[in-house]
Amino acid sequence: MSRQTRAIIHPSALQHNYVRLQPSLPSRTIAVIKADAYGHGAVTVAKALTDLCECFAVAICDEVRPLREAGIAQPVVVLEGPHDVQDCLSAKTSNSILVVHNRVQLDWLSNLPPHQRPVVWLKVDTGMHRLGFSVEDAIQVLNTHAWLHEQACVLVTHFACADEPDNPFNTTQFEEFSRIAEKTKMPICMANSAATLTHPEQWGTWCRLGIGIYGATPLANTSSQELDLQAAMTLQAEVIGIHRIKEGETVGYSRAWTAPRDSIIATVGIGYADGYPRHCPTGTPVVVNGQRARLVGRVSMDMITIDVTDIPGVTLQDKVELWGRQLPVDEVATCAGTISYELTTRVSTRVPRVIEHVDKVNA
Ligand SMILES: Cc1ncc(COP(=O)(O)O)c(C=O)c1O
Repeated sequence: MSRQTRAIIHPSALQHNYVRLQPSLPSRTIAVIKADAYGHGAVTVAKALTDLCECFAVAICDEVRPLREAGIAQPVVVLEGPHDVQDCLSAKTSNSILVVHNRVQLDWLSNLPPHQRPVVWLKVDTGMHRLGFSVEDAIQVLNTHAWLHEQACVLVTHFACADEPDNPFNTTQFEEFSRIAEKTKMPICMANSAATLTHPEQWGTWCRLGIGIYGATPLANTSSQELDLQAAMTLQAEVIGIHRIKEGETVGYSRAWTAPRDSIIATVGIGYADGYPRHCPTGTPVVVNGQRARLVGRVSMDMITIDVTDIPGVTLQDKVELWGRQLPVDEVATCAGTISYELTTRVSTRVPRVIEHVDKVNA
């Protein structure tokens, strides 16, 4: 591996965060590892959590196979359910649980011989209006599909505003979901990371933990440090060029940054083709040799430029952290006008994921 750009994955942080977030018994916990575990590597994350976690979740059936090939044995919940009959059949053989949210999916499953039918959970739309049956339709589905009761069916819903714990819409959705939960007395699954942290009444039978496991904050107004979460990914690159420029000279495409004083500019080997957001403006923090510096000028496809004038001794091959242990991904996401979920899932395949191995003797 010649180029030193890499995403270092910290298994100990994944384990710490999972334990930190795990709700008290009797709630059970699903680790959400869709989209290649939010960019961290689904197999890596599942292996890191395998002794702690009894169930995983992905978005689509295709995401199950790599887990099985890697020997992950836990049931896997498929949050978008099947996209065709073949998905229904493969769910049975791969020990997946399908979350069904529309009538076409229900028909595929109803028409299967019972021995070929996988476990099915039912998605209820309580206000997100993205996927799921309304409470009335879900009750009707349960009344007309007896086979749903002959297996371990769970009612599932998803909150639209869980990242804002005081948002009254959380209560609106909870009350809507309670109507069907109380009527049917079925097991329920609703809380994501944010709701797990802030609304114990919403834990239900199962919680679904995603972003918090990866060490980013699930809450709009609370930092990951305040929640005692640790970064599970450190995105790192190295200095590949150093330029001394005069006051008034410019840097990069469109000459977007003009030096207000004589400056030292370090060019770093990471760009938007690696998943570093092109929207990051001048001033976005990075960490060089343990000290904060700032991005200046436009993000290029393969490089960024940073102002290291005030950091003595920066030289070629010095390591630069774009986010991670020293710089919360949430801070960079805010600069880019987005959320941590997008930053980590967009780290491209050009960036090797390197698993940090902690030396147990010296740890
Ligand atoms: C249906 C569903 N459940 C749970 C999660 C996990 O949410 P979070 O990552 O905020 O914990 C997601 C994430 O997008 C989701 O779409």
